[in-house]
Amino acid sequence: MQILGIETSCDETGIALFDNKSNKFIFESLYSQAEKHNLFGGVVPELAARDHVNKLLPLIDEELKAKKINLEDIDVIAYTEGPGLRGPLMVGTAFSKALAFSLGIPTIPIHHMEAHLIMAKYESDNLLYPFMTLLVSGGHTLLAKVNSPNNYEIIGESIDDAVGEAFDKTAKLLGFNYPGGPEIEKNALKGNSSSIEFPRPMINSLDLNFSFSGLKTAVLYEVKRLKIEKKFNNQTKYDIALAFQDAAIDCLVKKSIKAMRREDCNQLVLSGGVAANKALREKFKGEINEKNIYYPDLSRCTDNGAMIAFAASEKLNFRNDHLIEVKPRWSLEDINNG
Ligand code: KG4
Ligand code: ZN
Repeated sequence: MQILGIETSCDETGIALFDNKSNKFIFESLYSQAEKHNLFGGVVPELAARDHVNKLLPLIDEELKAKKINLEDIDVIAYTEGPGLRGPLMVGTAFSKALAFSLGIPTIPIHHMEAHLIMAKYESDNLLYPFMTLLVSGGHTLLAKVNSPNNYEIIGESIDDAVGEAFDKTAKLLGFNYPGGPEIEKNALKGNSSSIEFPRPMINSLDLNFSFSGLKTAVLYEVKRLKIEKKFNNQTKYDIALAFQDAAIDCLVKKSIKAMRREDCNQLVLSGGVAANKALREKFKGEINEKNIYYPDLSRCTDNGAMIAFAASEKLNFRNDHLIEVKPRWSLEDINNG
């Protein structure tokens, strides 16, 4: 079966065609709107939606032509139903339903965060239920125990900002581009680790929750102090980037290990955009046996169409209705109820 995956939950237009017989992607293509949103220091939902409208058809057309595939060869269309930005989700959903209708084929609605996590299973036969997952993106930071396919128990989450959001806001304070995560990671490499230490909010709390807004505020105060003292320069920016990244990573790793011990899970799936951070991956490798950590390929950690197509191949929850509905807010646990 050939599954066309379409991702439009935020500012990446992602498409991929997955063949579930050969377990191979026939094509994958991604158009990032980051440059457009960079002008505004963050995603502008209306612009994102309009850009998806303009990019979906040309992206698909280009790939079909390049791979000499006909639209009629597609068996099902999977799309992100939520969570995410309402306008961008509506575009992907309406597009997918209309294309499926014209081809007379079913659709498969996909939960964006579930797709991030399922992508880690691609080419990983050893992952056994139950396992722990840390999902870290621009909108989510959560620890969930995955008891079986379609059975999630959220056991910890951020009580305020998502960690990706904290990366983005810190980058903005430092004058780096959007999205901030990769910029922080790159600039942290030039930082001096002993010059600043930021707080690790809630790191010792008994629960498994996270908090990142205090960390972001600590960065804000440090930037203000350095500006007043006329010491806000490239080197202090690198130092702040590193100190912020270290603090954020410590919180994520410590709570994940605690969750794994508490729930008696020895395997961890790390996924979502922030899972692309190499320092985070390295820190986990120092704490957990490397063979027990699963994550998608670096290129498939941030939003992409491949994860939507692949998740659909695992779920196969076909729909034949023509309702155009989206779920901007959608808990992973709601999947448990079907
Ligand atoms: O999963 P994703 O692409 O989109 C959402 O579902 O939100 O995650 C985007 C988030 C952004 O906040 C971005 O700054 C962050 O992931 N991110 C990173 C890195 N690459 C992307 N954060 C830290 N280090 C990275 N290398
Ligand atoms: Zn995402």
